[in-house]
Amino acid sequence: MTKSSTQTIPEATDTPQHVVMIMDGNGRWATDRFLPRTAGHVRGVQSVRRVVEACGRKGVRYLTLFAFSSENWRRPQEEVSLLMRLFVQTLEKEVDKLEEQGVRLRVVGDLSAFEPRLQELIKAAEKRTEHNNTLHLTIAANYGGRWDILQATRQALRDLPELAAHPENFTESILAERLSMAWAPEPDLFIRTGGEQRISNFLIWQLAYTEMYFTSVYWPDFDANALEEAFAWYRGRERRFGRTSAQLAEKQS
Ligand code: FPP
Repeated sequence: MTKSSTQTIPEATDTPQHVVMIMDGNGRWATDRFLPRTAGHVRGVQSVRRVVEACGRKGVRYLTLFAFSSENWRRPQEEVSLLMRLFVQTLEKEVDKLEEQGVRLRVVGDLSAFEPRLQELIKAAEKRTEHNNTLHLTIAANYGGRWDILQATRQALRDLPELAAHPENFTESILAERLSMAWAPEPDLFIRTGGEQRISNFLIWQLAYTEMYFTSVYWPDFDANALEEAFAWYRGRERRFGRTSAQLAEKQS
């Protein structure tokens, strides 16, 4: 099981081990260029490729990207269909490259809502890359943080029905072990592009002690330099995990 930031103090490293990203601003990038919003998503795939490669080079171990939230179904049907097609095409095209780069791909979220072909492609891509260990790339699709907490709670009650009579025995780890990314360490760095400053129901449990970085750069323009800027900002953060600055200084001396 991975360490919980509220139970033990994780080791802080210069390079974030787990980076999570909300890839926002595709629509505005396109609108600014008098293009349909969908053109922004197409360009967004190129940014995904660049960021995966750059994170691999920088020694990031886990990269998690929010590709489609449980709430994104509310978008116009045409845009949802284009996004689904992009997932299919990207999976078909990119899996060989991921394999070569030693990237392990996983997709988390309620995948039952996706068409069967997409579900099969996801399963095949996960299987094909399951022995890789250089970079763990996770795509969150039809994902919502509240959905995740709920599904983990339901699973815990199924596995341990005696908890209903003794709720005081329900611990943080019983729940955390059943979250859909239980195998990953908690995120060190959260990056949201596109200027908005909110979490949008992303990994709400796991973000408890994550450093939050917001940039106005639109996702299609987010490149290796923009990533380095975020990492430089991260290196300047003092990760106290509830302690005081004086305690940290004492530990380092
Ligand atoms: C947010 O921008 C972006 C999304 C909802 C989709 C993200 C998808 C991609 C980057 C492409 C596909 C990804 C993979 C992994 C194959 P927005 O549309 O909300 O932009 P706006 O805020 O400017 O309208």
